[in-house]
Amino acid sequence: MSDSAKLIEALKPFCEKLRSVVENGNEIAVITHLDADGITSGSIVASALRRMGARYSVRTISDMNPSVIERMKADNRDFYVITDLGGGWASHLRKSLGDKWVIIDHHQIPEEEILTDDDGQILNAWKFGIDGGRHVPAGGMAYMVASTLDRKNRDLSYIAVVSAVADRQDQGDKKSFIGLNTEILKTAQSLGLVSVDLDIMLTGRETRPLHEALAYTSCPYIDGLTWNREACYTLLKNAGIRLKDNGRWRVLAEFSQEEKSAVLDAIARFVATSNKTSTSVLDDLIGYVYTLAGEDKRSQLRDAREFSTMLNACGRIGKAGVGIAICMGDRNAMLSAGEEIVGEYRTTLRNYISTIFSEKWRLVDDGKNAFVNGDGLLAEDMLGAVSSLLSGSPSLSGRLLFVRTLTKDGTYRFSSRKCLGCDSKANLGLIMRHHAEAFKGAGGGHSAAAGCRIPSTALEDFLASLRAATSDPKFATAT
Ligand code: C5P
Ligand code: C5P
Repeated sequence: MSDSAKLIEALKPFCEKLRSVVENGNEIAVITHLDADGITSGSIVASALRRMGARYSVRTISDMNPSVIERMKADNRDFYVITDLGGGWASHLRKSLGDKWVIIDHHQIPEEEILTDDDGQILNAWKFGIDGGRHVPAGGMAYMVASTLDRKNRDLSYIAVVSAVADRQDQGDKKSFIGLNTEILKTAQSLGLVSVDLDIMLTGRETRPLHEALAYTSCPYIDGLTWNREACYTLLKNAGIRLKDNGRWRVLAEFSQEEKSAVLDAIARFVATSNKTSTSVLDDLIGYVYTLAGEDKRSQLRDAREFSTMLNACGRIGKAGVGIAICMGDRNAMLSAGEEIVGEYRTTLRNYISTIFSEKWRLVDDGKNAFVNGDGLLAEDMLGAVSSLLSGSPSLSGRLLFVRTLTKDGTYRFSSRKCLGCDSKANLGLIMRHHAEAFKGAGGGHSAAAGCRIPSTALEDFLASLRAATSDPKFATAT
């Protein structure tokens, strides 16, 4: 049986269970992760529940831990649907909540958790041989549940497309999708919800004046242009590109193919004269873009990558409810609230990054591993956003990155990433889980992006064992 056939077979009893929970009038709490994949997966489940007439609420959390489980127990809802979280916590959940829960997830889980899941409460990609780090995020898994519950929920496929780009699963050639993500994308395309085009990949292709979009694009990093609005403006203006239309700035999405070629030519000439291999930069600048046809032109929701940035911003800045409302169809007041949140999020991130690079003691980099000390600076919920952003920084390319901060409850929270160009075989998810547990903490994630929480007293020993683990073949991964 193929991997997706195994998943499809498991979906039937899983959805039957959910359906009977709803039909019995139970009050359901959807508990999900606060990042964009958490928001999309939680919202897809919530939309499906709403359409079934269920009584439900949605809550986001930063990670699963014993106090969250205690709170769930005290809350005493009838049933819990946990999305984008919960790997490694099945036995705790069973002890505290009996069988009143299910998990929909894509994080790698311990083998014994798969073996002891007799009642099929855990719908996790890895259980069916599907690579949850690259082939399907939690949003995609939640979509599989929703569309099995009711074919009408296939109209939520575009939200699953947003979740795939949010989790950087556009890892095929030219930022295409692979695995189950491709199947979901095909559905979204066939319903006219998403169009896919090979194009120039600029940040803000639907919303920013062209020169600003070029300046904001840091992947690929173009020396002399990235973060330099004036240089971008001069370059494009001198190349004769029409940047304004009737006094209004034009956005890349409005340019014709011919105009886009002229933009690329201008960038190519710039890169060639600044002593760089222009072919690689130009190559990296072209990739698939995913446009959400149902969203207004020039809206921050029209480009799936920008949509995902807004969701991340909402979750990380403590306003996940706005992101959830947007995913569940609220396009009025919520969209303008979301736009404001993105502004606040960007400003916070910019301040964080400039402090990390200006306060030199914060960054310890041995060329292979880079450690960032964010104590007293980084808010716990922003940690993942900071490490994702730093992982694209040219000065850290090739490294394994570990960013930490001391949290309000006195624990240390870590976020780790493989930086751009990193060819390490280390599986960060395995490393984080194994080493956090060894120091009475908890962690997990994927090969390229993971995190953990540890008691503050364990910090020095944890750091030492982390360094050793990055070159230990026991924690290497095939993919
Ligand atoms: O909990 P979840 O799996 O959804 O979170 C993964 C996080 O790691 C996301 O924020 C995603 O953007 C990030 N990521 C990354 N680089 C990768 C893969 C994931 O920064 N290669
Ligand atoms: O917080 P951050 O974005 O760095 O998380 C990266 C990945 O690690 C996510 O998939 C997250 O769910 C996972 N993680 C985890 N346990 C933690 C912290 C993060 O499984 N305590």
